[in-house]
Amino acid sequence: MKNITLLGATGSIGKSTLSVVDQHSDKFNIFALSANTSWEKMAELCHQYRPKFAVMMDENAASQLQSVINNDTQVLSGEQALCDVAAHEQTDYVMAAIVGSAGMSSALSAARAGKRIMLANKESLVLAGDIFMDAVKRSGAELIPVDSEHSAIFQCLQSGRSGLSKIQLTASGGPFLHTPINELQSITPDEACAHPNWSMGRKISVDSATMMNKGLEVIEAYYLFALKPEQIDVVIHPQSIIHSSVYYKDGSTLSQLGNPDMRSVISYAMAYPRRISAGVAPLDLANNSPLEFYAPDLDKFACLRLAFDALKQGGSAMGTMNAANEVAVDAFLSHKIKFLDVPDVIEKTLNQAQHVTHTSLDEIIANDQSVREIATQIVKQHA
Ligand SMILES: NC(=O)c1ccc[n+]([C@@H]2O[C@H](COP(=O)([O-])OP(=O)(O)OC[C@H]3O[C@@H](n4cnc5c(N)ncnc54)[C@H](OP(=O)(O)O)[C@@H]3O)[C@@H](O)[C@H]2O)c1
Repeated sequence: MKNITLLGATGSIGKSTLSVVDQHSDKFNIFALSANTSWEKMAELCHQYRPKFAVMMDENAASQLQSVINNDTQVLSGEQALCDVAAHEQTDYVMAAIVGSAGMSSALSAARAGKRIMLANKESLVLAGDIFMDAVKRSGAELIPVDSEHSAIFQCLQSGRSGLSKIQLTASGGPFLHTPINELQSITPDEACAHPNWSMGRKISVDSATMMNKGLEVIEAYYLFALKPEQIDVVIHPQSIIHSSVYYKDGSTLSQLGNPDMRSVISYAMAYPRRISAGVAPLDLANNSPLEFYAPDLDKFACLRLAFDALKQGGSAMGTMNAANEVAVDAFLSHKIKFLDVPDVIEKTLNQAQHVTHTSLDEIIANDQSVREIATQIVKQHA
């Protein structure tokens, strides 16, 4: 029986993880759960899963939760508590599924404690890739990606890296793949969140619509698979059936295919190196034909271009880009800026922010905060 600490339990990945746990309650036990403010949802989860710990990032939410808890779950709050449950000696596996840079410290805590980290929070690698991978190496932690593209590459690479020439991440192109660029400015948050293939949280849905999600994934892949930037390629594949591919020098390409359902990816991370059922229907290729592929348009999807540029620049550029994106997406979701202002805010922030090479987590966090102030000012100019 493996004890799972599920960080971000009330989110989309959290829900899919609990669905896999429900199907294999003989193999997995929920040890700790976390959320930010959703204490009512958390109360239901505590009632159902009876975890040892429930951590609310928000202190008031923790008090509310405490007042309705009637089992022996211990309610904690704040970032240190998230790090503590992630590193707890009784935790075997940590699902790092908090959204945004808020998920970085707890994922890093799991890495330092040598846990199996099932990493959905790509921001941990975008912000602190060197520090994170170093912690994994030193502690002997197992790092298993929980992103469909990276899981696909991880699965393909089980056959080895000999003769590897490049990897190719597939991108659905989001809901606006065929929308002319001049119509993008009037897109509403609800339209941007209506992803054609995947059901996800609102932030990552907007990131998919701008293709910043693919940009973050390019950086994530760079760290996960220790590649050069020029060995990472992106192709648009609207059906999201091929999840990604690995190219070898002999002309062979290996791809991983499946229906777009994160439970496949999550169950793989939980059972690795074995495979278990996930409740996902088998792929029906005949009914998914034809499969299409296009090169991405980097003028229309400027966020993807910005991410490649930030990766090549290195140092704080990736964290700066991520923080500016979080501020811009939040402003877009609250109707303060327009859809095409998102890349504009990011580019202006990158131009104004100081470019440095970080050596510590404190420096990364300080940069994240100062960049958010710059991006917030730029948002105000657009509003
Ligand atoms: N969804 C997908 O299919 C998918 C696929 C691949 C990778 N990912 C990655 O997985 C991560 C989670 O995505 P998601 O779609 O599951 O997000 P989501 O549905 O928005 O859920 C986010 C979770 O994080 C918690 N949270 C939010 N802000 C927090 C904070 N400041 N401190 C602590 N906890 C906080 C939320 O709690 P509350 O409910 O209290 O707000 C919720 O439990 C992201 O990094 C995303 O890029 C997602």
